[in-house]
Amino acid sequence: MSKNIRVNQFYGFIAPRPTVCVSTVDENGNANIAPYSFVIPLSFDPPLIGIGSAPTRDTTHNSRETGEFVVSPVTESWKEEAIKTEVSLPREESEFDEVGLTEKSSQKVEAPSVEEAPVNIECELQDEFEVGDHVLLAGKVVNIECDESSLKNDRLDLEDLGALGHIKGEEFHLSKTMTEIDRG
Ligand SMILES: Cc1cc2nc3c(=O)[nH]c(=O)nc-3n(C[C@H](O)[C@H](O)[C@H](O)COP(=O)(O)O)c2cc1C
Repeated sequence: MSKNIRVNQFYGFIAPRPTVCVSTVDENGNANIAPYSFVIPLSFDPPLIGIGSAPTRDTTHNSRETGEFVVSPVTESWKEEAIKTEVSLPREESEFDEVGLTEKSSQKVEAPSVEEAPVNIECELQDEFEVGDHVLLAGKVVNIECDESSLKNDRLDLEDLGALGHIKGEEFHLSKTMTEIDRG
């Protein structure tokens, strides 16, 4: 027996998707942060990250206005606050304060980093593409600031920190298991 699923439910099968927070500022310097899971590495050289963002999002407007965003992968210790940043506030109000996250100055961009995040990936908007009902924001990685104690083999120690993946709706996947596969 097989079952056909509505095609617009496809993303629930591309799961778990890494969950990140994306921080931006508008042209008046107001900070914004929101959770995202349509996130994909696009290129090694230049190093590019793609974010699928609905055109109505403050994140989309701010990235266009100031040409920058910061991507902070969500780990177990700050997962509740990270997901609460979904709250929709007027542009001049910061979700950081609302959910109890701490803004920290980034090193190469004006968009803020997240103090609670073990790694903050600073990006400059390189390009944007209309893709269906979303906008693909292609950001060039210009700086990666990582808490040294969170590192293992030049990556996050996810076995300790736990990576938060999004499945769909309110279903998430917390992963702490690393498995090695022989690639021949
Ligand atoms: C786990 C999770 C993942 C999300 N992923 C996306 C996404 O990839 N793209 C998107 O446009 N919205 C996504 N959203 C919805 C936005 O986070 C939400 O609309 C938010 O209010 C946008 O904030 P902003 O208007 O301040 O940018 C996601 C929400 C959650 C909780």
